[in-house]
Amino acid sequence: MDKLLISGGRSLEGSLRASGAKNSALPILASSILLKDKMTIRNIPHLNDITTMIELLSSMGAEMTVDENMDLEINSSNLENPLARYELVKTMRASILVLGPLLSRYHEAEVALPGGCAIGSRPVNLHIDCMRQLGAEIDIVDGYIKAKAKDGLKGGNINFSNVTVTGTENAIMAGVLAKGTTTISNAAKEPEVVDLVACLRKMGAKIFGEGTDRIEINGVNALEPCDYSVMADRIEIGTYLTAVTMTKGNVSIKCSLPSVLETILDKLKIAGANIQIDEEGINLEMDKIPNPVNISTAPFPLFPTDMQAQFIALNSISKGKSKVIENVFENRFMHVQELIRMGGNIRLEGNTAYIEGNTKGLIAAPVMATDLRASASLVLAGLVAKGQTKVDRIYHIDRGYERIEEKLNLLGANIERVSE
Ligand code: UD1
Repeated sequence: MDKLLISGGRSLEGSLRASGAKNSALPILASSILLKDKMTIRNIPHLNDITTMIELLSSMGAEMTVDENMDLEINSSNLENPLARYELVKTMRASILVLGPLLSRYHEAEVALPGGCAIGSRPVNLHIDCMRQLGAEIDIVDGYIKAKAKDGLKGGNINFSNVTVTGTENAIMAGVLAKGTTTISNAAKEPEVVDLVACLRKMGAKIFGEGTDRIEINGVNALEPCDYSVMADRIEIGTYLTAVTMTKGNVSIKCSLPSVLETILDKLKIAGANIQIDEEGINLEMDKIPNPVNISTAPFPLFPTDMQAQFIALNSISKGKSKVIENVFENRFMHVQELIRMGGNIRLEGNTAYIEGNTKGLIAAPVMATDLRASASLVLAGLVAKGQTKVDRIYHIDRGYERIEEKLNLLGANIERVSE
């Protein structure tokens, strides 16, 4: 199993190119099911979750070619097996994203229930409820969601009781080929939802209101081929900018996303970072011990849960006390015990972490990655710790960060990937 060995204490300096967004590429790949033709998807990140989605689509009969830039041509015209097997779904919950498009195009689908997850129970009840709202009959049999809409899906009103990102994306993709109008209330406003809609619109879908909490979709008979480039990954960018802040570095990241990064950039400014934005991207410079930053996670445009762990790492070396509240997932503090092993002074009480910055710095230790963003926080801690940190189970990191050690080493970090 691969591990990362991180020798801490170096400032990150230089410039970096952001990868395509995982959470945008996944629904966009799933949307190819809606099309009886070829489409081209560009700027796909090279990640394990993307490979899983590609395997899932291939297992259903989609044909694809990928070039060295990870631009992918995908042809779902011969897709004939609307089944998402447990073996693939269990490795990636986002596999549930095929439910809406399969029902929309084939009027039937069998998708394995994803099961438990390191960051909470993460049910898919809202995905199932919204498909029922559009006329699907759904039974849960042998751990599978078995869904059928004999005469096709029909437009309906979906009102999510909870904001759900992939639930909103599934509902949008289901509505695209449904008969009539579908409305989604309490929709997720995440930029990745907006990116999916931009791609679907390029394919001829009629969708209005993305980026707000009310989305309307007028069903069309068929979609047309398109060529679409996935947006940059705001969480990857946010993670690297946090690393630069922690290591007192100076880095420019080429990207065109500053507006969707506003909440994260505001928090990094509170930490003391000097941030400049121009048409090329973002430059961040930091020259002192960070100030503590209070965080409370919530759906977009508020602070993303996917950046919570990284900010706990930052607060662990800040000069003062801070409070981090996790409101989105029930058990997303697995990194805390590992950070404590590196000298972090953190107390957990319910959904709140109370942190007292350790200005003497963290100390390297062998630590274990438990989920994607938790792993990122351990890498960040390793970058500033005294000594060599060994991060185990980094397959979690490879699910969501493209060549993390190569990118950080280019900025001057000292990280080695070893297999043991
Ligand atoms: C997506 C992101 C993930 C991010 C999360 C929250 C993708 C592929 N993943 O995950 O990186 O951390 O949004 O921003 O885009 N819920 C239910 N029932 C459901 C669905 C969700 O109760 O059927 C609850 C969840 O348990 C959670 C909350 O709703 O407490 C939000 O989850 P959701 O937005 O659905 O997360 P994902 O879409 O799975």
